[in-house]
Amino acid sequence: MKEVTQEEYLEFIKENDIIVIEDVQIKLRKTWNIKSFSPPEEYELEKSTVWSFPERGSWATHVGDYRGNWSPYIPRNLILKYSQKGDWILDQMMGSGTTLVEAKLLGRNAIGVDINLSAVMLARDRLNFSYNPLLEEYKEPIIKTYFGDARNLDKIENDSIDLIATHPPYANIISYSKKNRLENDLSQLPLEEYLLEMRKVAEEAFRVLKPGKICAILIGDTRKHKHYIPLAFRVMEVFLDVGFILKEDIIKVQWNMKTTREKWSFRNYDFYLISHEHIFVFRKPEDTKEYKKYKFSIKW
Ligand SMILES: C[S@@+](CC[C@H](N)C(=O)[O-])C[C@H]1O[C@@H](n2cnc3c(N)ncnc32)[C@H](O)[C@@H]1O
Repeated sequence: MKEVTQEEYLEFIKENDIIVIEDVQIKLRKTWNIKSFSPPEEYELEKSTVWSFPERGSWATHVGDYRGNWSPYIPRNLILKYSQKGDWILDQMMGSGTTLVEAKLLGRNAIGVDINLSAVMLARDRLNFSYNPLLEEYKEPIIKTYFGDARNLDKIENDSIDLIATHPPYANIISYSKKNRLENDLSQLPLEEYLLEMRKVAEEAFRVLKPGKICAILIGDTRKHKHYIPLAFRVMEVFLDVGFILKEDIIKVQWNMKTTREKWSFRNYDFYLISHEHIFVFRKPEDTKEYKKYKFSIKW
C-alpha cells in the first residue's frame, strides 16, 4: 500500500484534466458546485432485505460515470446502520470513492484502497470538497487513500477497522483494465483463479476488522451458455470459509442493465435477465465460543 495524499492529488490535477478507465474518459472536476449534501428529504433508510434505488443518487460529488460504481445509497445505509461517528471505515476496492464520500458526509474516518492509480486520483477528486455542517456533533473526519492491493493491506493493523463496505470486481465480467492491463487487478481473472484470490481479500478483511464488527460486500452473478453462474454465492462461501458469520443477504435490485453482463434481447432466449445482486453482510465473531453459537450461519 502506498498512500496518495491531497498534495499528490493537487500536483496530479495541475497536469491532468481526465483519467481513463478502460475506454472511458472521466473528467476531473477539481472544484465542485454542490447543491445538496444528502439524499432527497423524503428518503427513508432501508428496513427490509430488498433494496431498490431507481435513482442512483447524485447528492454531494456522486456521479455515476465510473464503470460499475455503486449507488451512494448502499454505503450510506451500511454506514448508518453499522458504525458510529468517529469510527474507521474501510473500502479496499474503492473505485471512484463513493464509500469515502459518504464516510466524510457522515463524520466517519475512512481508508480507501484501489489497485488502479487513476481510480485513486478520481476518488481524491470526489473527496475534494469542503463540508462543514456547523453541527456540534460533526468533527471533520480523517480520510486516507492508498494505491494498493486488497489482498495485502500492510499499512492497516490487525483488529483496527470498525466497518468494511466494499464492492469487488465480478471476476472478469466487467474489466477495469483490460486494455492497459494492470497487474493484480482482480477483474482480469477467470472464475477459478478469481475465487482463490478473493480468499486472500477475505482473509485480509478478517484480519483488519475488529471482532464483532461488520464486513459488507456487494456482488452479482452471471450466466454462461444460457445457464446461471452463482458467482455471489461462491464468493459468500469464501468469506464464510475464512471465519465470517453471515448476518444478512440483501437483494439489491438492478435498474440499469446497460452495463451488466447480459447484452442480449431476452425475448429471444429461454432465460430471464439477471436484475438483482447480493449485499452480503458478514460479521467477524467476537471469539471461538461465540462463533460456534451460529452454527448454521457459518461454514457448514
Ligand atoms: C466495482 S469497482 C468499485 C466501485 C466503487 N464501489 C465505486 O463506487 O466507484 C471494483 C474496483 O476494484 C478495483 N480492484 C481490482 N482489483 C483490485 C485489487 N487487487 N486490490 C484493490 N482494488 C482492486 C478496481 O480497480 C475497481 O476500481
